[in-house]
Amino acid sequence: LHVAVLMGGWSHERSVSLMSGEGVAKALESKGHKVTRIDMDRNVALRLSEAAPDVVFNALHGAPGEDGTVQGMMDLMGLTYTHSGLATSVIAIDKELTKQALVPHGIPMPGGRIVASEDLYTGDPLPRPYVLKPVNEGSSVGVAIVMDESNYGNPIRRDAAGPWQEFDHLLAEPYIRGRELTTAVIGDRSLLVTELKPKSGFYDFDSKYTDGLTEHVCPAEIPDEIAQACKDLALRAHRLLGCKGTSRSDFRWDDTQGVEGLFLLETNTQPGMTPLSLVPEQARACGMEYADLVEAIIAEALE
Ligand code: DAL
Ligand code: MG
Repeated sequence: LHVAVLMGGWSHERSVSLMSGEGVAKALESKGHKVTRIDMDRNVALRLSEAAPDVVFNALHGAPGEDGTVQGMMDLMGLTYTHSGLATSVIAIDKELTKQALVPHGIPMPGGRIVASEDLYTGDPLPRPYVLKPVNEGSSVGVAIVMDESNYGNPIRRDAAGPWQEFDHLLAEPYIRGRELTTAVIGDRSLLVTELKPKSGFYDFDSKYTDGLTEHVCPAEIPDEIAQACKDLALRAHRLLGCKGTSRSDFRWDDTQGVEGLFLLETNTQPGMTPLSLVPEQARACGMEYADLVEAIIAEALE
C-alpha cells in the first residue's frame, strides 16, 4: 500500500504528533509499504492530492487534526483515512459536547460547567478541589488542579501561571481523588486497563512523555469489577460516539467508593502512538505488535 502519514501540524501537541507519525511511518516501512510523510501545513490539501495515497494514516493530535477539520477536508477530497470521521471528531475533541453525548446514555462522567476565565479571579466556580481544563486540548495541555489557596491563591490570582492566561473559557470539574485508569478499544474490542502512577504531581504533559516519570501498571491491579466496568464503558463510549479504528477512554477512580467512584473523563479519538503511549502498550500486552496495530487500524479504514 501507499500510505500518507499525516502528522505534526500546529496544535499544542505538534511534538507528540511528530513522534506518533514517525513511529507509524517506520512501522509501515518495516512491513514493506510505501510511505509519504506529510507534516501538515496550510497546503495540506495540495500535498495530499499530489501524493495520491491509497490511504491516509491520521497521526495528528489536538486541533486542527483531531477535531473534524482535517477529516471534513479529506471527505471532500474523496480520500480514505484512518480513525474517526468528521462528526465523531467534532464531538469527541470537545469535553463538554462529549458529556452531552454520553451522560444521557448512563455513562458516568464528572459534573461541572464551562466558566469564563475572567470570572475565576473573583471566586471559585466549584468547591475546591476542582480541575480546570480547556475543552479541546489533549495531553493535559492547560490542565490545572486547584487544591487550596497554596497553589494559585484564593480566589485565583490573575498573575498566577495557569491556563486562564491563555484560554478565554475553561471547563471546571470536581477533582476526583484516587486513581488514573485508561482503556483502549481497537476495532470493536476493549483491550485492558492500565493504571498510570506518576512519580510526582499528576499525569501531566511531562509525566506523559518523559521516560521514567510515570509507572504504567498493565493490567492494572484493581478489582475485576472495576476492570470490567472500564472495558464496558470504553466500548460503549466508542460505539456511542461512532469512533473508528481505535479510541482510548480515560478514567478517574475513587477507590473508596467501589464502582460508584468510577468516572469517564473523555474518549480520545486520536490516541498517541509514541514509544510511551498506552494504546500500543495495551496492544502489545494482548499479543499485537506495534506494526500489526498500525496495519489493523488501516485495515478498518479500508473496509
Ligand atoms: N492526546 C494524546 C495524544 C493522547 O490522548 O494520547
Ligand atoms: Mg485527551
